[in-house]
Amino acid sequence: MKIGITYNLKQNPAENLPPDAFGEFDTEETLSALAAALETGGHETVKLGWGVEALRRILTEQSNGEKRGIDFIFNLAEGLEGRNREAQMPALFELAGIPYTGSDGFTLSLALDKAQAKIVVKHAGVNTPEFVTAHDDIPPKDLPPFPLFIKPLYEGSSKGIRLNSCVTTRKGFEEQFLWIRNQYGPIPILIERFIPGREVTVGVLGNREPYVLGIMEIRYREKTGQDFIYSYEVKKDWRRLCEYIVPAGMEPLTEKRVRESALIAYRALGCRDVTRMDFRIDKNGQVYFLEANPLPGLSPIYSDLVIMARGVGWTYEKLILTILKHAQERYAKKPSCL
Ligand SMILES: Nc1ncnc2c1ncn2[C@@H]1O[C@H](COP(=O)(O)OP(=O)(O)OP(=O)(O)O)[C@@H](O)[C@H]1O
Ligand SMILES: [Mg+2]
Repeated sequence: MKIGITYNLKQNPAENLPPDAFGEFDTEETLSALAAALETGGHETVKLGWGVEALRRILTEQSNGEKRGIDFIFNLAEGLEGRNREAQMPALFELAGIPYTGSDGFTLSLALDKAQAKIVVKHAGVNTPEFVTAHDDIPPKDLPPFPLFIKPLYEGSSKGIRLNSCVTTRKGFEEQFLWIRNQYGPIPILIERFIPGREVTVGVLGNREPYVLGIMEIRYREKTGQDFIYSYEVKKDWRRLCEYIVPAGMEPLTEKRVRESALIAYRALGCRDVTRMDFRIDKNGQVYFLEANPLPGLSPIYSDLVIMARGVGWTYEKLILTILKHAQERYAKKPSCL
């Protein structure tokens, strides 16, 4: 097949922007690795970029009688702004009738808005920390019990998340609230109970019968006595600070809970092909859903899903070609793409 790759390329943020402004975007290195992995499957690849320009390129290639058109899209595009930003390209692919990898626009928007995702996942029977949201400049009065965790409602790659995002007092909360406002402008904020304990991330693949690729624990390399927080500072310095354990060792009952929670959340959110989900496990073995990433990072070096895949013995190529295979299977079963 001729596979178009859609993506947003990382740039250095302008001086007036925070350092994590483009944290979710991809590097040339990731695009080249992805293209190379697809080529090992016998495919031809075309880098398309993002936006109307990318769509125009797809349509031009399609309408050119002599050249072979784009058969399939491998979508990495994060989009620029708002909670529908990840949904924009998939919506255009659907409009143009072009098959693509990964979840549809609805699921991408639903998962990006962490509060909406939590409502849906909780309704499906999975624990998630109690929360409130703030959509204006006034820090909400009624909060869940401290300690709390405060983060942007719809960002990723720990944008707006720092080691002091966990707050234990009203004063600390208001300071962190103001900090987010000052750094990122009038974006909505999620305030939820901080769950002390272990952190695991779970990779799920597939469609009609989704399966867990792996459960990976992420913790500090050195014992600090502090709860692990996968903040922007920590992700930036992951090689030095983090240890990734695959498979994460845990009580069989806890592991069962993590697996079941991940599969329930995957289905409830309507995920397709691939998703990585973050959970916390408290000292009683209770499992809490934090968030789902239906458009997970695919850097061959530092993305959690790729580190996890390596941990279960999958090469990068196998991961990429499996995601593509699941997407192709969906379209083969048309009219329902799920
Ligand atoms: N309620 C919470 N309790 C404890 N820790 C939390 C909580 N919410 C977030 N964290 C910590 O902050 C980290 C980042 O939060 P979250 O996963 O919501 O952000 P993200 O930017 O969407 O992440 P990703 O890079 O996976 O897209 C989590 O991995 C976890 O370490
Ligand atoms: Mg996360």
